[in-house]
Amino acid sequence: MSKLLDAIRERRSDRHFAPNKPLEPEVVQTLLEAFRWAPSSNNRQPWRIVMASSPEAHRIFDDALSAGNKQWAPVAPLKLVIIGVPEEQPERNGTQNYLLDVGFAMENMMVQGYAMGLTIHAMAGWDYDKIVKGFNIPASAKPVALIAAGYRGRVEDLIEEVRAKDLKPRTRKTVGEFTYTDNYGAAFK
Ligand SMILES: Cc1cc2nc3c(=O)[nH]c(=O)nc-3n(C[C@H](O)[C@H](O)[C@H](O)COP(=O)(O)O)c2cc1C
Repeated sequence: MSKLLDAIRERRSDRHFAPNKPLEPEVVQTLLEAFRWAPSSNNRQPWRIVMASSPEAHRIFDDALSAGNKQWAPVAPLKLVIIGVPEEQPERNGTQNYLLDVGFAMENMMVQGYAMGLTIHAMAGWDYDKIVKGFNIPASAKPVALIAAGYRGRVEDLIEEVRAKDLKPRTRKTVGEFTYTDNYGAAFK
């Protein structure tokens, strides 16, 4: 179990990918396997994935990226559009549970990828309309994140601006900053 915690803790969203090192089909399959075993409310699994394969699909993906993500993500060999289907998972208590479900599945994939020597980097910086149009996503399905993935490369090979992001120490809130005992806001004991 401690190995699992190590992978959870050490997984990181790096931006350096090994150039010219595609992911083997069995590696991609393992990532998808980790994704599909995520929990979801009522086991509804309200997710879809479009994987860019052709050069044209890669071009569409890259073109939709924000300026910041364009600096590093295009070289990633594996590019995924992660999609949720809201009508397959009704909202409850004001919470869009399909987003929770998709998030769990993404994290499964990200931790599994880390454990296999990959970087799986989720992105919120992209143009919604370009992704919908470029990948023919119907109105009932919502792209929620893009993923760029590949084997880890050398941070030295990044341009300075991006390298600085990857060299920044990773931090987290302490448990006491977000966990309360008995009442919201009360110190965690
Ligand atoms: C939903 C989501 C969207 C993100 N969007 C971007 C993004 O557009 N560009 C980027 O460089 N990093 C993005 N990140 C990576 C986060 O910045 C990163 O997870 C966070 O800084 C914590 O770092 P770590 O993943 O290395 O622990 C995203 C992460 C998540 C989960």
